[in-house]
Amino acid sequence: MGDTMRFIAHGSLLLLDGDMLGPRAIEHGGRTLYRFMDYLYVPVPPADMDPHLVQEVCELRLSERARVLDRRIHARVQAAMIKVVRECGLAPGNVLDFGTGTGESAETLRTELTPRVAGCDMSWASLAAARPRNAVTVAPHGPLPFASGTFDLVHALFVMHFKIPAPMLTELHRCTASGGGHLVANCYGDSIEPYRERMRAANWGLAMSVPVTGVAGHVIDLWERVRRVERPHCRVDQIAGTKSAGDGGSRMDVERAVPNCDAKPVTESEGRSRIDCSTPE
Ligand SMILES: C[S@@+](CC[C@H](N)C(=O)[O-])C[C@H]1O[C@@H](n2cnc3c(N)ncnc32)[C@H](O)[C@@H]1O
Repeated sequence: MGDTMRFIAHGSLLLLDGDMLGPRAIEHGGRTLYRFMDYLYVPVPPADMDPHLVQEVCELRLSERARVLDRRIHARVQAAMIKVVRECGLAPGNVLDFGTGTGESAETLRTELTPRVAGCDMSWASLAAARPRNAVTVAPHGPLPFASGTFDLVHALFVMHFKIPAPMLTELHRCTASGGGHLVANCYGDSIEPYRERMRAANWGLAMSVPVTGVAGHVIDLWERVRRVERPHCRVDQIAGTKSAGDGGSRMDVERAVPNCDAKPVTESEGRSRIDCSTPE
């Protein structure tokens, strides 16, 4: 550890004191710790953090947010996500803010997209600290306390770079409207490809992806809910008409599953606008 660096212990984490950017990894107490979010050091490579560690990190981020959170980047990324939703012609009636934390992102969605926003998060401490409107605590693997097809859009801001458990991604899929539901998320750096793999495995199809202007290495992905596909990475002409027994998918489902295919975004479908997405009692 360098002479001029000072660390403050928080459970299994270390917080670098001061404004200096530390090295990618440090040795401390006979263990290797890895840098995450500039000032935090975690006991496993960030891509391998389990939900308990993610929760510890997020709660430390919350208590130290004045220092560790770059609000300019945060606001710019959320604005880019909303722009993608608008420019794709989506007009979501009901939105779920997955990993809502203190709920600030949900408030922005209420102002910018729709008043009908519900939030959920596995961190009771985050929800208790800020008491965001219409938000529930959930277990990291789910289930989610919402009826199938409730949401037109799932919004996940600074969440998907964590290793979200597969059953939770499937739950998000279930709670999204079957005729045109979407998920919009940001991600960055080395976490992009592993997260995309997890999303595809949970039957989300990447409809489009854009870089965030002015925030290096950051992307906004718009995902479409797809039903079931055998081989999501094949070209459409390779798998069209190859529906296997029990697949239940149609050619349209297959097209939607192909990353970067020319799938047309679907606007708010009729009949869902009266569904109340408020938190169940
Ligand atoms: C970095 S914070 C972002 C909070 C908020 N979206 C924002 O941008 O300010 C990530 C949030 O995702 C939540 N989270 C991470 N994994 C989760 C999971 N499997 N289920 C539910 N919430 C999760 C964390 O508890 C944390 O509050």
